[in-house]
Amino acid sequence: MATWKRAAKLFTDFQVEQSDPDRFYGTMASDSVAQMQCLANLEGAHVLDVGGGPGYWADAFEAAGARYTPLDADAGELALHGRVPLPGTVMGDGQALPFRTGSFDLVYSSNVGEHVRHPWTMGDEMVRVCRPGGLVFYSYTLWYGPWGGHETAPWHYVNGRYAAQRYRREKGHEPKNLYGTSLFPVSMAQGIRWARSQPNADVVDIIPRYLPSSLFWTSSLPVVREILTWNVALILRRR
Ligand SMILES: C[S@@+](CC[C@H](N)C(=O)[O-])C[C@H]1O[C@@H](n2cnc3c(N)ncnc32)[C@H](O)[C@@H]1O
Repeated sequence: MATWKRAAKLFTDFQVEQSDPDRFYGTMASDSVAQMQCLANLEGAHVLDVGGGPGYWADAFEAAGARYTPLDADAGELALHGRVPLPGTVMGDGQALPFRTGSFDLVYSSNVGEHVRHPWTMGDEMVRVCRPGGLVFYSYTLWYGPWGGHETAPWHYVNGRYAAQRYRREKGHEPKNLYGTSLFPVSMAQGIRWARSQPNADVVDIIPRYLPSSLFWTSSLPVVREILTWNVALILRRR
């Protein structure tokens, strides 16, 4: 599954995120669901997607037989790229999920943790709303990775504030992902600490989400892993 060919396809399609979002997000969604199918039986599973955005993941999860509930905090994001918000979308904050404890079989979040002020409160909430025996998949972009600064990269390596100022000067407007407001520095070390300290969940795996499995060993190297991994997936099973 995590082959070089797959990594190359993800990277190639990443180049067309702005020009051809349907292709990029379609690839991402089917890749994510294939990854989830290696971890859990999705047939009949109730999936919560925290920060689902414009809903590209719905078709892929539903094609795998899952019942898909997206939650997002921003109505504008739901309608990005001309998309129509999905029926049943819940407006809410991932850091205070409006669901009862143990409501979902799979609680999923992709590329949201770096956009919230309290990513580990969001993680705790994801564990809370997952049923005993269910899975939590929490994946986010690492600050010290090449895409940590998002559209302000690579200047985030100097400093997040500087990167935002530089972007503003060059483009004449604020970056969409604004350091300290909608973009925060999150590390792999923080994620590992959070995952291992969960009182109500066991760690199933912690993997570089996009890398081929022959490079998974890099995630055991402190510092190096923060730069090479790009995006980490914390996978937990609720006790
Ligand atoms: C980069 S997009 C990721 C969308 C999709 N999950 C993906 O992987 O492409 C980040 C999403 O997180 C949402 N978001 C930001 N803060 C949030 C919060 N506090 N609670 C829920 N969603 C949030 C944004 O509105 C946006 O849709």
